[in-house]
Amino acid sequence: MSQTRTQPRNILVTSALPYANGSLHLGHILEYIQTDIWARFQRAQGNHCLYMCADDAHGTAIMLKAEQLGLTPEQHIANMQSEHERDFNDFLIGVDNYHSTHSDENRELSAMIYKRLRENGHIASRTITQAFDPEKELFLADRYIKGTCPKCKTEDQYGDNCEACGATYSPTELINPVSAISGATPVEKESEHFFFTLPAFTDFLKQWTRSGTLQSEVANKLSEWLDDGLQEWDISRDAPYFGFEIPDAPGKYFYVWLDAPIGYMASLKNYCDKNGDGDSLNWLDYWKKDSTAEVYHFIGKDIVNFHALFWPAMLDSADFRTPTKVCVHGFLTVNGKKMSKSRGTFINARNYLDHLNPEYLRYYFAAKLTGGVDDLDLNLDDFIAKVNSDLVGKVVNIASRTAKFVSKSGGVLAADLADEQLWNQFVEAAPRITDFCEAREYSRAIREIMALADAANAWIAEKAPWSLAKEEGKEQEVLAICSQGVNMFRALMTWLAPVLPETAKKAEEFLGVTLDWNAATTPLAGHTINKFKPLMQRIEKTQVEAMQEAAKESLAQLQAETKTVTGPLADDPLAEQIQFDDFAKVDLRIALIANAEHVEGAGKLLRLTLDLGGETRNVFAGIKSAYSPEDLIGKHTVMVANLAPRKMRFGVSEGMVLAAGPGGKDIWILEPHQGAQPGMRVM
Ligand code: MSP
Ligand code: ZN
Repeated sequence: MSQTRTQPRNILVTSALPYANGSLHLGHILEYIQTDIWARFQRAQGNHCLYMCADDAHGTAIMLKAEQLGLTPEQHIANMQSEHERDFNDFLIGVDNYHSTHSDENRELSAMIYKRLRENGHIASRTITQAFDPEKELFLADRYIKGTCPKCKTEDQYGDNCEACGATYSPTELINPVSAISGATPVEKESEHFFFTLPAFTDFLKQWTRSGTLQSEVANKLSEWLDDGLQEWDISRDAPYFGFEIPDAPGKYFYVWLDAPIGYMASLKNYCDKNGDGDSLNWLDYWKKDSTAEVYHFIGKDIVNFHALFWPAMLDSADFRTPTKVCVHGFLTVNGKKMSKSRGTFINARNYLDHLNPEYLRYYFAAKLTGGVDDLDLNLDDFIAKVNSDLVGKVVNIASRTAKFVSKSGGVLAADLADEQLWNQFVEAAPRITDFCEAREYSRAIREIMALADAANAWIAEKAPWSLAKEEGKEQEVLAICSQGVNMFRALMTWLAPVLPETAKKAEEFLGVTLDWNAATTPLAGHTINKFKPLMQRIEKTQVEAMQEAAKESLAQLQAETKTVTGPLADDPLAEQIQFDDFAKVDLRIALIANAEHVEGAGKLLRLTLDLGGETRNVFAGIKSAYSPEDLIGKHTVMVANLAPRKMRFGVSEGMVLAAGPGGKDIWILEPHQGAQPGMRVM
C-alpha cells in the first residue's frame, strides 16, 4: 500500500522531445497528457516535481524542410517551437520549462559528455562507405534513396525495404537507385565516422535493464537484443547537417540522437539558471551520480533503444546517474486504425483544440491508460459516450444535485456525516487510487473513482433530498445528505484534479477550499461553500464531426503544399501505378493566370484566379516560396480542371496547377508554349 513519506521526493519528469519538423498530433498528445497527469499527481502529493520538455531541433529532415520552406533552419525551428508550445499550453500540459535542443546549454553539455566518452575510450573512429548525392553534395540515409525493388521489380521503393513484396535489402541492391532529394544517381563515397562503443556496456546494460528501471515486457524485448550482441553506434554525420559540430572534428556533426536526450538535461539547466535560487536544487543535483532525486522519462515504444540502451550507457560513461525509470507507452490509434496521413486518419493537436475542450481528451486518455505498452484506441463514439456519462452524468451531477439545497439553508455544510458507511468506501479507496496513479495505472484509478461516483449517485437518488425538501421539518436531514454529497464531490474532484486541472479550479471556487490530496477523505464540516455554477458542458457529436472535417482539411492542405513544394520528399511514397483509364480521367487544361495574391495567414499558399476561357476558378497553390504574385499574373499554365473542389482553411480550391522542382525557390509552374489558349485541353 502507499508508502508513508516523511520527506517530499525530488522528481524530474520528461516527455520525449517532439521533432521540430511538423505539427503535434493526438499521438504526441497522448504521451504529454500521460506525463502531465503524473507530474500533477506528484505535486498534489506534496512532492517536488519538475516537468521538462523541449523541441528536438536537429537532423537532416529539419534542414531539408527549412530549405523547402525557404527559411533558415533557425527560423523554421523557432516557428515550430512556438506552435508546439501553444499546443502544450492549450492542452493544459503544465511543463515547467520548454526548451530546444538547439541551445547553448545543450551545445555545452553535449560537448562535455562527448569529451568524457572519448577520454574513457568509448569513442572509436573508422572510415565507412555510404551513398552520396553528387548534386546535393549530401550523404544519403537509406530513407532518402529510392529505386526499383530487386525482388519483385516494383518501382519507386524507399531505402531498405519494399512496400509491395516486403523484401528487405541494402540500398545498394536497389535497381536504378536515385536520390529522393534531387533525383540524381547516388555514388558511393568514403568518410570518417565516430562510433560509441556500445558493446563495452553489455554487462552494465544486462544488469541495468533488469533493475526495476523498465516494464517487464520492455526488459524482455531488450534482452533479445542484448543476447544477440550489441553493435557500435554511429554518432557522427557529415556536413551539411543541422546540428552541433563535434569538438576537434571540423565538418563532422553529432547525429541528432546523440544530443537529443542530453536536451533533457539542457532544458533543466536552462530552467535552473533562469530561476536562480527559486528552486532548491540545481540541475546537477538531479543528474550527479549519487543523486537522491528521481528521474523519469516518458516515451513511446518506438524509441526504447535510444532511452534504455544508448542513453544509460552514455550517462554511465560520462559519470552521471541513470534514469530511475523509463516509462514506455503504446501507440494511439483512431477508431481502431493507425493514424496515417495517407489514410486520412491523422488528427492534429490544433484540429482537436479548435473544436473540443482539452479536458475531455485528458479524461478519455486517463480512463484508458495503463502502466503497460499496449496501444490505445481513441474511438470517437466511445469518447463522446464516456465523457458525457462519467464526467457530466456522474461526477458533476453529484454537485449539481446537492449544492443548491446547501445554499438554500445558508451555504454552511453540516457538522456530521449522514452515512458514515458510504463515506468509509471513499476512505478505503483512497490509498488504492494513490497507488494506481503512482504506477501509471490511470485506468484503474479512474475505475475506482467512477465506482465511488456511482455509489454516491445511487445513494443520493435513494435519499431523494429534492422530495424531502418539500416536507416540513426535514431541513437538517436534507442538509446532512447534501453536505455529504458535496463532500463526496470534493473527494472525487481531488483525485481527478491532475486529469482535469481547469474543472478542479472551478470546483475549488465553488467549494471555497484548495483541493488537497492528503485531506481528500477528511470531510469539510461547518464550512461555507459558494454558489454552484455549471462545471462542464456535454460533448456534442457535431463538435467531433467538425474536428474530423478540420483534420481532413489540414491534411489536404498539407498534401497540396507537399505535392508542389516537397515533391519526392512527401511523407508518403508516391501512389501506386494507375491504369490508362485512370489517367484519361484527369482533365488537364490551359489556364491563364488572371490574378494572383497572397493569402493572409498561409505560409506557403498563393491564391490564383485562373481563366479557362469563359470560366474562372479559384485555386490555392503552394508555390509562394518560388513566385511573387506579380510574376505570375498574365502567364499561361496547366491545371487539373476536374479535381473535386476542396474546402481549405482559406476557402474552396477548385483545381490544381502543375509545378515541378525540388522545392523552396526552385519550383516552376508548367508554362505551355505560345499559342496555347485558355481552356484548351492538354493531351
Ligand atoms: N525527437 C524524438 C524524441 C527525442 S527524445 C530525446 C521523437 N520525436 S517524435 O516527435 O517522433 O515523437 C515524440 C514522442 O511521441 C515519442 O515518444 C513517440 O513515441 C510519441 N508518439 C509519436 N506518435 C505516436 C502515436 N501515434 N501514439 C503515441 N505516441 C506517439 O521520437
Ligand atoms: Zn518488392
